[in-house]
Amino acid sequence: MEWNDNFNIGVASIDAQHKELVYILKYLQKSIKGNQSQYVFANTIRALVEYTKIHFTDEERFMESIGFPQLGEHKEIHQTLIQEVKHILLRLKRRENIKPIELMRFLNDWVTKHIMNEDQLIGKFVLDETRRAVGNEIIDLTHEEIGNLEYTTKLQALTELYNQQAIPFNEYQKKCCDLILTYCNPKSINNHDDLGRALSSVENLSNNSYIHNDVCEALKRYIITHVSMNEILESFANSKAQLTFLNSMREYNLLSPADHSRYKETITKTV
Ligand SMILES: [Fe+2]
Ligand SMILES: [Fe+2]
Repeated sequence: MEWNDNFNIGVASIDAQHKELVYILKYLQKSIKGNQSQYVFANTIRALVEYTKIHFTDEERFMESIGFPQLGEHKEIHQTLIQEVKHILLRLKRRENIKPIELMRFLNDWVTKHIMNEDQLIGKFVLDETRRAVGNEIIDLTHEEIGNLEYTTKLQALTELYNQQAIPFNEYQKKCCDLILTYCNPKSINNHDDLGRALSSVENLSNNSYIHNDVCEALKRYIITHVSMNEILESFANSKAQLTFLNSMREYNLLSPADHSRYKETITKTV
């Protein structure tokens, strides 16, 4: 029986106690291999029971403190597990012949299955709650009136969350876009200068690692599809400048081939 990092549930105090339980099991295994007396064997099992009781109490207190919804069921499982081991102790006391290998298998299963199944749910609950709290905090932040500095700080915080896999990509992208679009609303972009400024400020965010490149590309495309392209084209001095602009949009993949040829047609028609 060895500690395996998959046993970790992500709550340091509980993980430390689980490690201790695994350590006692390892000791028990050694005493079987070393052909220790029934006495040593029974004492080690007794130690296992005592430590398990302490652990269960601490774990239950923790579940209570976080409002863990399956606390009642979990407590019942703990009770059953304790009864099972106590039963074994009783059999040893009566000098019943219990095969050490079988006993070891039972105890290993007893500890690992409970950690891997029920205890993992505690860790999952803590993680979900943390994510929810952090996510809500970010949503609150995006609705506040904020200055320029805070705005980039929020984008960095979001990117950091995404990098730590605390929020999925869709959510990350949506929150970044919501935040950025409050500062560069496509509806307020009326000429090519405005558009150039908006696109380069989005790109700057990506260059400075405030947002991921994918978010930058999605935003640029979003802006292009939501501005009045005809107004932008009209703001150019001549059709040559209009065509150069259109071609560069296409080149940067900001215009679909269909849109590109549609606008191109309009320009050449008016010449
Ligand atoms: Fe447990
Ligand atoms: Fe546990």
